[in-house]
This record gives sequence, C-alpha cells and structure tokens, in this order.
Amino acid sequence: MKIILAADHAGFTMKEVIKKYLEEKEYEVLDCGTTSGDLSVDYPDFGFKAAEIVASNKADMGVLICGTGIGMSMVANKVQGIRATLCHDHYTAEMSRKHNNSNILVMGSRVTSIEIAKDIVDTWLTTEFEAKKHKIRIDKIANYENVHISKTFVEPFTCGKTGGRTFVINHPLIKHKLGIMRNKNTSSKDFRDLVHEVSALMIYPATCHLALEEIEIETPIEKTKISNLSGKKLAVVSVLRAGLGMAEGILKVIPNAKEGHIGLYRDHKTLKPVDYYCKLPNDISERDVFVVDPMLATGGSVASAVRHIKAKGAKKISLISLLAVPEGIARFHEEHPDVDLYVAAIDSHLDKNAYIVPGLGDAGDRLFGTK
Ligand code: RB5
Repeated sequence: MKIILAADHAGFTMKEVIKKYLEEKEYEVLDCGTTSGDLSVDYPDFGFKAAEIVASNKADMGVLICGTGIGMSMVANKVQGIRATLCHDHYTAEMSRKHNNSNILVMGSRVTSIEIAKDIVDTWLTTEFEAKKHKIRIDKIANYENVHISKTFVEPFTCGKTGGRTFVINHPLIKHKLGIMRNKNTSSKDFRDLVHEVSALMIYPATCHLALEEIEIETPIEKTKISNLSGKKLAVVSVLRAGLGMAEGILKVIPNAKEGHIGLYRDHKTLKPVDYYCKLPNDISERDVFVVDPMLATGGSVASAVRHIKAKGAKKISLISLLAVPEGIARFHEEHPDVDLYVAAIDSHLDKNAYIVPGLGDAGDRLFGTK
C-alpha cells in the first residue's frame, strides 16, 4: 500500500516520526513536504498536493498533519473524492474507517501525543470499511460532488522546489488537436490553424481570474445589467518567432488586448541571452501580460524573455506554452515563482539537442514552413 504524507511546519516533527514508523512496517511511503519545522509554511500548499495525489489514485491513502488538524481537514475535503477525517483517538480512527471509509487521516500535532498518533495510524490503516451499512451514505457524498462540483480540466502540476504554479489544461478538444499537431505528416497550414485554435482554447482558463463589473444597458426588450471586464488592460507578448502563431489565436478571443514582441539571441562570447528586439505597450506595468511561447524546453530563453519584460515594468505575468518538460518547468519557476504557467501537455524529457520528446518538432519551422 502506498501512503502519501504531508505536514506544515507545526506537523513536521510528527510527520517524520510517522514516516519512519510506517517505513519500519514496510508500507511504501511518499512524502510531499514540508521539509523543516523551522520555516513557517502554509498548510494548504502541502495539503492540496497530497490530497490530489490520493484523489488521482497515485497513492492509496494519505496522512496529513498540522497543528490542530483543522486546517489540513478543511483543505483535503475540498478535493473531489477525498474523505479526510480528523482523528483524536483510537475510537475516532476506527469509526472513520468503518463508517466513513476515510481515505485521508488528519491529525493535530499540538493536540495529540506521538504515542496516540501511532495507535491512530495503526487502527486507521487496519480497519475495514463496513460497506454493507454505510456505503449508501458515502455514495450520497459522492453524488453531491458529482452534481455540484464541476469536473475541472485544469490540473495543477508541481515541479521543482519554488512553489511556482503550473496548470495543465487537460481539455478533450485541446488533447485531440495537440495530437494532430504532433503528427509529422500534418501540413504547415493545418499546423498553423491548430496552433491558433489550441491557443484560443488555452486562454479561457488563463483568464478566469479577470474581474468583472456590472453595467446597465438596454436590450431591444428592456433595461438590464450585463457583466463587463473591468479594466480590460491585457497584453499578449510573443516570444519570436514561434509565439506569433499563438498570439494570433489568442487575439481572436481577446481582440482588445495590446500586443508586444520580444526576440532573443544567445551572445556567443558571454553565452547570455540578449534581446535583439523588444517592443511592448507603453503602459505594460498596468497590464495583465500573457507571454506566449509554444515550447518550454530548457526554460532558459523564456525565463530571460520574462526577465526582460519584467525589467520594462510588467508586474502581473502568465506564461502560456503548448508543451513543456519537467526540467524546463523547474528551471522557469526557479527564476519566476510569481509567474503562473499554463501548458497543454507535459512531455517526458529533452533529447541531446534540447528537443522536447515526444514533442512536435520545431514549432517555428512547422508554423512557417521553413523546413
Ligand atoms: C500553524 O500555526 C497552524 O495554524 C496550523 O498548523 C494548523 O493548526 C491550522 O489549522
């Protein structure tokens, strides 16, 4: 059985003890942090990660620990499919399995001793769910979730140590179109159309934080209030040249956004990226900026592009890429933990020429038919 552990700083010491205890009993233990009791951290950052791992069946059960157990319970129970139970003693641990089919055990390190915690863990892991009597109640919880919680197609992906956020947009239309783009027999014309379409679809989740305001208008029938984007200060910045295809698709959906362009080359002497072209809207510091670059490979050039864009005053930046690899994501977030990244897929790795594998080849060449 695979068990994922997570704790904040308050639960760190107890987590370490429980981890050793479970390993001695030959459970397979995964640990998603935190890694120290000295640094104050936020329990949602660790609780969500662990709960999502259980919800997606990458672990069978989870144990979460914070000071009281209350925060971790609130967090874990927000994740669809999770039944997190805060247990204080042998009895609540037993009941949480028998009656509630708990899949995450939560404990409070400041209210439960280590000895009791070990007993709780043992009891919780060895008690069976009494499905015959209680399944009907658990099914009612699942039914509520199915009806009221929309199935999200934006999946968070964690990589590296910095806490920068990556979102994988797992929408069926995007997956389908991306599959066609990967095919080497897809023509330049079709490839270009698909880049436009996929980018236009990706901008939906990337803009879901935009604020709305109500204004009054008159329909042909009567006066009514409508929602309007408040501020509307958006900018799409293409990293030349492959970003151009993405910007074209996105601007069909947000046509009032201003456009910027940045081009970089690597100086052979210093090996540092130099921007040979950078033209951004004058008021870039007031705009929500979407940087577009189809391939996040090593992460080096787009990290430099974002550094240059920040130097021109941009404050709120997101990066949208079609494909990325874990090492590129980690490198990017290391430099820009404040920039959210949206990708359509995360591929396996880079080959020796820094091409994404399996990838789709050179996006620029395929867009412009230059090869
Ligand atoms: C951290 O001080 C504390 O608030 C946290 O560990 C937990 O008890 C929250 O519910």
